[in-house]
Amino acid sequence: AFNLKGRHLLSLEDYSKKEIEYLIDLASELKRQKYAGIRPRNLEGKNIALIFEKPSTRTRCAFVVAAVDEGAHPEYLGKGDIQLGKKESVADTAKVLGRMFDGIQFRGFKHETVVGLAENAGVPVWNGLTDKFHPTQILADFLTIFEHKGYLKGIKFAYVGDGRNNMANSLMIGAAKVGMDFRIVSPASLFPEDALVAKALDFAEESGASITVTDSVDEGVEDVDVIYTDVWVSMGEEEHFEERISLLQPYQVNKDMMDKAHPEAIFMHCLPAFHDQETIVGREIKEKHGIEEMEVTDEVFSSKQSVVFDEAENRMHTIKAVMVATL
Ligand code: CP
Ligand code: NVA
Repeated sequence: AFNLKGRHLLSLEDYSKKEIEYLIDLASELKRQKYAGIRPRNLEGKNIALIFEKPSTRTRCAFVVAAVDEGAHPEYLGKGDIQLGKKESVADTAKVLGRMFDGIQFRGFKHETVVGLAENAGVPVWNGLTDKFHPTQILADFLTIFEHKGYLKGIKFAYVGDGRNNMANSLMIGAAKVGMDFRIVSPASLFPEDALVAKALDFAEESGASITVTDSVDEGVEDVDVIYTDVWVSMGEEEHFEERISLLQPYQVNKDMMDKAHPEAIFMHCLPAFHDQETIVGREIKEKHGIEEMEVTDEVFSSKQSVVFDEAENRMHTIKAVMVATL
């Protein structure tokens, strides 16, 4: 068995292929137990701090439900609740929280903040999304692929859209670790950083993965098993709206694009997604830019190929596995 006790989860770079597979297996087992009504309460008496600088539906709720299912107490520390970085340094905050809590989740802007927390807390720190990585999302995505396809190594996976955001970065690292045939399909100006691609290529050498970075949709999505996309404008990058809309329109996931993939391909998205007019921001975009759908059409989002809500549910089971394994 694998002993991950005391480990942080800042990026999947720090986890081996076997450790990633172990976390996915454990999540699958905990999911089975929950469905069977079994509550093992692996985290009885533990206290979990949840620091959020940015909004969240899935990540926050996944941590809270997972903690309560396992008998732990989650404490939400939102923007404005604590002094983090403002009146108290990241290091001092980490030391204080580490004296009281058994584990700390951080979602926020700078990746350095989560690194700083990990260096000083003395308890496991989990990255719930930074500008650079979103590793717990990848575990949920891989569990979802495993459930639908039965395997991970060799899966043909196209990530289409903003090729240098937290999702592109972490999917590339995760795919390289587990041995997928992974493609980033995005405009050249949004290709991932060279240094990160080099890292992914190193991991790929070990796992047998292949990593392709292309601006050609035809080349990138041909016959793939998975088409994945994310918002064109991530939290905190709102000033790039105009530029991203014109850059990324050719990379919208629509029926035409899905038809280029394998007939049994699945569509994935970490959510939230802009696919209709059911949101305030969606309506603003329509008014300002005249477009009704952004990164994915409603037709694809709502199709049988779409597994986006399985992914959302699996956030909870995989985050539970991360806490159970590391505490
Ligand atoms: N996918 C994801 O992280 O969702 P939230 O922003 O709602 O947590
Ligand atoms: N790239 C998105 C992911 C949201 C889960 C963001 O950072 O806003």
